[in-house]
Amino acid sequence: MSQFWSDIVHKLTPYTPGEQPKLANLVKLNTNENPYGPSPKVITALKAEAADTLRLYPDPNSDMLKSVIAKTHSAYGIHSNQVFVGNGSDEVLAHVFQALLKHDLPLLFPDISYSFYPVYCGLYDIEFQTVALNSQFEIQIDDYVVPNGGIIFPNPNAPTGVPLPLVDIERLLKANTQSVVVIDEAYVDFGTESALGLINTYPNLLVSHTLSKARSLAGLRVGYTIGHPDLIEALMRVKDSFNSYPIDRFASAGAIAAMQDIDYFYETCNKVIATRELLVRDLIDLGFSALPSGANFIFAKHSKQKGEVLTAQLRKQGIIVRHFKKPERISDYLRITIGTNEESALLVDALHRILIKSI
Ligand SMILES: Cc1ncc(COP(=O)(O)O)c(C=O)c1O
Repeated sequence: MSQFWSDIVHKLTPYTPGEQPKLANLVKLNTNENPYGPSPKVITALKAEAADTLRLYPDPNSDMLKSVIAKTHSAYGIHSNQVFVGNGSDEVLAHVFQALLKHDLPLLFPDISYSFYPVYCGLYDIEFQTVALNSQFEIQIDDYVVPNGGIIFPNPNAPTGVPLPLVDIERLLKANTQSVVVIDEAYVDFGTESALGLINTYPNLLVSHTLSKARSLAGLRVGYTIGHPDLIEALMRVKDSFNSYPIDRFASAGAIAAMQDIDYFYETCNKVIATRELLVRDLIDLGFSALPSGANFIFAKHSKQKGEVLTAQLRKQGIIVRHFKKPERISDYLRITIGTNEESALLVDALHRILIKSI
């Protein structure tokens, strides 16, 4: 029946999300979710929202949520009119691609990066060029200082987890004033420096965040981006030509409660970071090398065993991690989400058993 498809649909190569298995009791370390549930205050807020008011549309502008987000980042001098919110940062990024990154010159992003970026380029017919990471999987800022229609990369990068120092981002912004620079800070709260402090100096900077990772709300779908009000206006124009109500009443109530519970946020982020450091040490003892991580995941490869084999063997033992066959340069790496200490111990035990048998 594909004769009914619009032309563009034939050409799309959609994103493949990490597996969400239906089996219970798996140790799920494959999609960078938080091992801890959301703040108990989020649950209370969601329960209160299950009310007669659901018959009414939510606020199309999410004013309350925007003001809470601005307040959370007030140390950086952020105001509500610099905030745009959406149904997960994926939706926010989609609008960013369409509203701000489609130009005659190509959009630039790293050759190893979030694999949704080329998908949006396909959807919106945006020309792009990938820029190679160096041999340590680091972003080389000088390679981006060329004529371009925009620049986007995650910091820390995904799926590598490697953080880029803030001084490098500022160097890029000083050199690149004629196109929008988007720093996708989905994982920034796990130990990477945020670029939010540069927003009021550089009108072409957008910094995007999600509540899916550090605020344990992947299931609620809320993300946001922060930048100059002119950039936000472009995003609002696209949003209001697409879906006026991306943040439903539950998403708004839950996100507000999550942003306000700062103590819980720090407590859970610190636990994840502590587990990550322990797991890196254990993996090194097992013969892995791990890239430096500023994220809630580790990108690691074993000196003797292939990534694909380890992934398959772990799965047989009820543990799922993410493996990328391409590009070749990362095909021996496992991307391991940081779980609880107990989940880490299960992973390390399983790897130990697999490696003893296979090497
Ligand atoms: C780098 C990066 N950006 C954005 C996202 C999207 O997050 P969400 O749509 O859940 O906010 C992800 C999700 O894994 C990601 O890895």
